Amino acid sequence: MSDAPPVTTRLFATPPGIALGALDQIADGKARNFVIQMRAGRFHGFVVRRGAAVFGYVDRCPHAGVPLTQTLDDYLTPDGSLIACNWHGALFEIEDGRCVGGPCVGQSLTPWPVAVEGGAIVTG
Ligand code: FES
Repeated sequence: MSDAPPVTTRLFATPPGIALGALDQIADGKARNFVIQMRAGRFHGFVVRRGAAVFGYVDRCPHAGVPLTQTLDDYLTPDGSLIACNWHGALFEIEDGRCVGGPCVGQSLTPWPVAVEGGAIVTG
């Protein structure tokens, strides 16, 4: 028998209706990481807030397939106008996840549907 820890399957989508907490946990114009442990595995995503709107994406850069940041919640350019990958500088539109700069121009982040319902963020 092996003493190796069980391998955790990485998931790239969540079921709808998962409550992620209050909208106000994310400052306006900022982003936050979410990790959701489910029976089938673990999902890593992030949500960007702009006013009352939220934009969610799977935390995986289309360039090399790795999480975008090495620093917790650090998903945006300093001016907050774009999503930035820490590894090789890919830049993505917040509204649609389209890569507009760096090594994967023309590709996109994988959307993670989220919405605000009654002041709370919920998966769609
Ligand atoms: S892994 Fe994101 S730019 Fe290379």
